[in-house]
Amino acid sequence: MNPSQSARSTERAGQRVCVFSDHHQACAAAADWIALSVRENTERRGRAVLGLATGATPLPVYSRLIELHRLGRFSTEHVSTYNLDEYYPISPLDPLSYRAYMHLNLFQHLDLPANRTHLLDGTTPEEFVDDHCKQYDRWIEAEGGLDLQLLGIGRNGHIGFNEPTDLGEPRAMALPTRRIPLHPTTRQDAVREFGSIDQVPTHALTLGIQPILAARSILILAFGSSKREAVQAALTGPATSRVPASLLRHSAERVVWMIDDSCAEGWCD
Ligand code: F6R
Repeated sequence: MNPSQSARSTERAGQRVCVFSDHHQACAAAADWIALSVRENTERRGRAVLGLATGATPLPVYSRLIELHRLGRFSTEHVSTYNLDEYYPISPLDPLSYRAYMHLNLFQHLDLPANRTHLLDGTTPEEFVDDHCKQYDRWIEAEGGLDLQLLGIGRNGHIGFNEPTDLGEPRAMALPTRRIPLHPTTRQDAVREFGSIDQVPTHALTLGIQPILAARSILILAFGSSKREAVQAALTGPATSRVPASLLRHSAERVVWMIDDSCAEGWCD
């Protein structure tokens, strides 16, 4: 697949890196990539299974998918979605929940059957969280795995809410879906939505690194100077559990990075 004629394409740590002059172009290319993956997988096996991300980064991707749907060029009739993460605890009716974000910014605008949009549930009683997370991994396995996982990256190199850890590479790569304490940088970044640090949840539920790496295709987006250091570390530094995105190189042939000039400046010119 050719992500876009307007991108320059290079390779870092075995992974394809497409650099766009601005993030709107990158997001349009990402939406086309997702639409193509849905079409191909639906034709091949009757359905497509998407892993989706939230946050600021994918919003223009979702707007473009909605536009493609309105133009009759993108249908999700045979699609299942699994989101990466959810705050814990949080009600799905809380406007700051990722369930609410997905409904507002994508799901309500598409032809997705309601029982095919899955998010980890921030209302799960604490004693059942482990079961709930295991069940989420089982659901994805029962669907035949994720055809495409869409990712953003945190300023600290996290993917999903798999935060930096000293566990070491092999153990980090085996991390399943689970409840985690949020890293101080992640909580600080969430102040922009929650208003103050006291309002930001201390924990979240996240898809594990293992199921992320198992996706048949991984599309990771990073824009702007605030992501530069994390992306540079992930793509030019060592593979380490301290920079979770650096572990993507273990699925290198299935990973595409779409970044903008501002993120690439100084290390991927
Ligand atoms: C969101 C997620 C996170 C974000 C990351 C970047 O579902 O899993 O890893 O992708 O924190 O967030 P933004 O896009 O807001 O900069």
